[in-house]
Amino acid sequence: MTILPNAERLLDALDARRSVPARQLDAPGPDDATVLRMLRSSVRVPDHGKRVPFRFLRIAGDARHALGEQLVARARARDPEIGAGALDKDRHRFSHAPLVIAVVAILDPQDTAIPEVERLLTAGSVCFALLQAAQACGFGASWLTGWPAYDPDILAALGLGAHERIAGFIHIGSPRLDPPERERPDPAALLQDWVAP
Ligand SMILES: Cc1cc2nc3c(=O)[nH]c(=O)nc-3n(C[C@H](O)[C@H](O)[C@H](O)COP(=O)(O)O)c2cc1C
Repeated sequence: MTILPNAERLLDALDARRSVPARQLDAPGPDDATVLRMLRSSVRVPDHGKRVPFRFLRIAGDARHALGEQLVARARARDPEIGAGALDKDRHRFSHAPLVIAVVAILDPQDTAIPEVERLLTAGSVCFALLQAAQACGFGASWLTGWPAYDPDILAALGLGAHERIAGFIHIGSPRLDPPERERPDPAALLQDWVAP
């Protein structure tokens, strides 16, 4: 097997990626220049038709707490019987890590040339690239969604348009621990040769 000079380092970086749970992400987060550096790598995704079907929302500082309070109010409206523990989880959902980048998928229904699923896949690729970039910059990160990513009132509060969706909330910060590795799928077991029927 021929491996290009830098390829081992790139493959090592891919192999080393793992999520750090949001509650294990502390300050400091990346500074503004580092955020932009990470996003510069994240936007280099395959993009059928070059639609750029994504944008970013930064949720940092006090905005994280304000969003937490909105989640609590909405969670109460969704379920008046909700318990204190669940409310507490929602209150802190966005304030464990110092920075959350919402990757917003822009899914213009007038665009019939490129299937919507392909545009959503592009936005998902951005999420993955951002995880990699964050780790390459020395931070930990996690791709999370949860009910807030699908709740119309919360999406409106975040300023999403009718044809936008959350591809992922990428929580980023300084890892408090080295997360344990989990078992990974065996690629050989997943690989088949297609043969003509
Ligand atoms: C679209 C998407 C949404 C996810 N949402 C959540 C979530 O809300 N909560 C959660 O615990 N994990 C969620 N995950 C899984 C974690 O991001 C992560 O992949 C998982 O904990 C495994 O860790 P690993 O990334 O190190 O393999 C989501 C993953 C994807 C791709």
